[in-house]
Amino acid sequence: MISEKLQDAINDQINKEIFSEYYYLSMAAYLSSQGLAGFENFFLIQVQEERFHAMKMYHFLNERGGRVILSQIDTPKTEFKSPLEVFELAYKHEQFVTKLINDLMDIAISENDHAAKSFLNWFVDEQVEEEASMEGFVNKLKLIGGKGNGLLMIDKELGARTFTPPAK
Ligand code: FEO
Repeated sequence: MISEKLQDAINDQINKEIFSEYYYLSMAAYLSSQGLAGFENFFLIQVQEERFHAMKMYHFLNERGGRVILSQIDTPKTEFKSPLEVFELAYKHEQFVTKLINDLMDIAISENDHAAKSFLNWFVDEQVEEEASMEGFVNKLKLIGGKGNGLLMIDKELGARTFTPPAK
């Protein structure tokens, strides 16, 4: 059975993962309004990834005899200056999520919950990928000055992204 402290912390993280989903959906909507279907696609896939993260925590909490309690989701930012700003904010957000996952791991360690530590290791590894992916596109967009043919090439690349649910 999971401790109440860890249960509460995981519930907070479920909220943050669903907020991430909402935030990226807002970015997708902005990118769609700019006619950048590939960029939009990238963030729509990211939306699915964030829901996957939330559901992974949902199932873990249930399996451990905890109770999932949902709470209000914050309103995401809706206006952005450019695709570069979107990726910069997404990168910053992933760095924030990494900190939250690390804090969650600290609680699992202090509660001596080995099952939770093993479970959270997946998220620790996932955050390395999440940050690298966002940072990579920040760098590419800076390289091309955020416009022109380069932007269309990146749009094409982002349009090819598909969602493959990770193994459980
Ligand atoms: Fe759920 Fe993008 O981390």
